[in-house]
Amino acid sequence: MRTQVGIIGAGPAGLLLSRLLSLQGIDSVVLENRSRDYVEARIRAGILEQHTVDTLTAAGVGDRLRREGLEHSGIHLQYPGTRHTLDFPELCGRTVWVYGQTEVTKDLIAAQLAGGPPLLFEVSDVVPEDVDGDSPRIRFTDADGTPQVLECDVIAGTDGFHGPSRAVVAAGSAGAQVWERTYPYAWLGILADAAPATDELIYAWHPDGFALYSMRSPTVSRLYLQVDPAERIEDWSDDRIWEGLATRFALDGWEISTGPITEKSILPMRSFVSAPMRRGRLFLAGDAAHIVPPTGAKGLNLAVADVTLLATALTRLLKEKETDLVDTYSDTALRRVWRCTHFSWWMTSMLHTSGDDFDAQLQLSQLRRVCSSETAARELAENYTGLPIEG
Ligand code: FAD
Ligand code: PHB
Repeated sequence: MRTQVGIIGAGPAGLLLSRLLSLQGIDSVVLENRSRDYVEARIRAGILEQHTVDTLTAAGVGDRLRREGLEHSGIHLQYPGTRHTLDFPELCGRTVWVYGQTEVTKDLIAAQLAGGPPLLFEVSDVVPEDVDGDSPRIRFTDADGTPQVLECDVIAGTDGFHGPSRAVVAAGSAGAQVWERTYPYAWLGILADAAPATDELIYAWHPDGFALYSMRSPTVSRLYLQVDPAERIEDWSDDRIWEGLATRFALDGWEISTGPITEKSILPMRSFVSAPMRRGRLFLAGDAAHIVPPTGAKGLNLAVADVTLLATALTRLLKEKETDLVDTYSDTALRRVWRCTHFSWWMTSMLHTSGDDFDAQLQLSQLRRVCSSETAARELAENYTGLPIEG
């Protein structure tokens, strides 16, 4: 088998990259080790920045998003006794959209299978090879158990945090470095068949811990509670979860709406950045190179920003034989990665309780500042709705 760009991983990063390249007349093959059902059902992010919506629309996969997605013009920030609305269009002229990552993935897979480049599910033993030369290849075993070799001009490692690509980049790059922070808390997340009792997302600070009120549609709520990472989901009955949420979102004259919980799980939180994002002809994008805690709603958006840059750089390399954009890809992408890493860390630090009362007073002071100063609010709004993509 031969293609121009071999893409490892069919998450949002890999699928969108394949789509953007095919619109430029560049062929690719996407290799995914999970099944289509598994990839489409994986519940993750829910907030799309304006540039993500624009990119998906330009890529021809924005129709259902525009039809079924919910455009949001702000968020509520809450601490006991106060629920304050940040109005994004007023603060920075941009909005965000609520549209689940599951739906983004389904739209991209449907477009790919309707005459797009090959997308192979349930492959195994994926290994990128000879990435320092001009003819790299990917060895893998196909779904029938037959060993295959995919010859490529370039390989994209969009295989998420646990994929094989990052280690290959790190092993061959002088000065490769990793920065990591694990947080002493986790999120317990639920999906519930309950109409959201709020127009905008609520980010709530509470002495018992952070809580987030999000949604997927006018009839489905997505809610999160800060818990200790050692907590076991079996110990959280539905009643206990609803009680915790009601306490942390409590506000006079307002009530949470409950309904059957259809999914619940506990998610660890970490910040992680690996540099560089390139070795020879192997390029990393998305969670393969970096992880942010979900408080800033940045993970998926950052993956989209990476592949937007990478698609442009690879188009220039493969069509015009110019190496300038692939040479600057890692540095340019990492500048945005660090901005989002800082914003996600800052939101996380402001909203999650540590049990230390000095920390709690600093957090409340910061929240009052964001809720009373237009300058402080604008800084949050600009980062949350997404800064422009460089390059
Ligand atoms: P992924 O979506 O991880 O895709 C990588 C793909 O590569 C996967 O399909 C994987 O199966 C495949 N793969 C891995 N190894 C191999 C291999 N050896 N061979 C072939 N294929 C392979 N972000 C938010 O903003 N908000 C959230 O609420 C949020 N919740 C999250 C919850 C969880 C449990 C996780 C893990 C992440 C969450 N994120 C969230 C982050 C966000 O979902 C990611 O940033 C986003 O999925 C990144 O897309 P990606 O394509 O880079 O990686
Ligand atoms: C979600 O809807 O899953 C979501 C929304 C905002 C976040 C994180 C997750 O900051």
